[in-house]
Amino acid sequence: MAKKIAIVGFGFMGRTHYAGWKEIKGAKIVALCDKDLSQFKTVVTGDGDKKVDTSLDYGDAKLYDDMGKMLEAEKPDIVDITLPTWLHLPLVEQAFQSGANVICEKPMSLDVASCQKMIRAWKASGKHFMIAQCLRFWPEYVYLKNLIDSGKYGKVVAASFRRFNISPGWGKNGSWFLNEEKSGGVALDLHIHDTDMVQFLFGTPKAVTSRATYTDDGAMRYISTIYDVGGPTVIAEGSWGQPPSFGFEATFMVSFEKATVVLDAKRSAPLMVYPMKGEPFQPKLSAKSGYQLELEWFFKLVSGKKVPVVTTPEACADSVRIVAAEKKSAKTQKTVKL
Ligand SMILES: NC(=O)c1ccc[n+]([C@@H]2O[C@H](COP(=O)([O-])OP(=O)(O)OC[C@H]3O[C@@H](n4cnc5c(N)ncnc54)[C@H](O)[C@@H]3O)[C@@H](O)[C@H]2O)c1
Repeated sequence: MAKKIAIVGFGFMGRTHYAGWKEIKGAKIVALCDKDLSQFKTVVTGDGDKKVDTSLDYGDAKLYDDMGKMLEAEKPDIVDITLPTWLHLPLVEQAFQSGANVICEKPMSLDVASCQKMIRAWKASGKHFMIAQCLRFWPEYVYLKNLIDSGKYGKVVAASFRRFNISPGWGKNGSWFLNEEKSGGVALDLHIHDTDMVQFLFGTPKAVTSRATYTDDGAMRYISTIYDVGGPTVIAEGSWGQPPSFGFEATFMVSFEKATVVLDAKRSAPLMVYPMKGEPFQPKLSAKSGYQLELEWFFKLVSGKKVPVVTTPEACADSVRIVAAEKKSAKTQKTVKL
């Protein structure tokens, strides 16, 4: 049976998810909501990502500027929250109260206490809940996860992850990203992707040791963390404020006992495997993005189909907790236990 989908927040990620839902058979987009109706007349292209939907024709979807009115009129089966981070908690709670299933963009929320409130609202609702930590669905990272779990190339010796971006000023109110109280800053907004990946691949670390560089007005601009995962050396770096000509870069380099695996989109072959024995090769992967695959996963879950456990709200809340420990470690210059 078709499911009614409503997207709330029609900026960069709202448009990205809109493109994704349109590809899913049985997903009927009934409503789009943004408090600023002019968002439906312009296209926010984010950090140069080409996955946003650039059409200004919204078909049968009704346009709203108020989520409460939209919920009452449309009674959607799935509410997709693609709002600025500080609004995740109140609007996720409101969406659950309406009886909808909810998918919400990452990071789950600004702090652990609000993540726990969201988990309570979800459990009280009896509905499904997903936080869109998209890397868990991104084909290159899924390939890496499967390699680690299979043991094909032995144990991981060392893993490093890097995520560097331009200053995030693409939102209509672009500066909300640069306001740490609204976005959580570079650590919670950007670097959490890799924190969550470390947790996904190696489990919750026992401790984190971080260092950061701050702007003159005290905002974190760069963070680097060593995660104590009780085995391999695992490091991740995140940075905002690269020159526009640099753009966005997300890479990893993972050394196994019997191979090295590299992701670097700026190479001619972004994902490469270099085995100790045999020729290097480029694995064949799904052409779909993690954005698309995460929506498909949630749609199946809500439709009562069997899906593997890739993510849980609790795991995403744990990533918020780990990032908080990283921020504390960077400030105190001390290792923080988890
Ligand atoms: N998964 C990813 O790779 C990824 C990438 C970018 C952003 N994000 C996350 O997605 C979320 C949204 O980021 P974005 O880049 O789309 O931001 P954005 O600023 O481009 O869009 C947010 C939209 O929400 C609207 N809005 C604000 N308050 C509202 C309200 N009360 N009701 C309805 N609409 C409202 C704004 O008018 C704006 O159009 C953030 O949590 C961000 O961290 C995730």
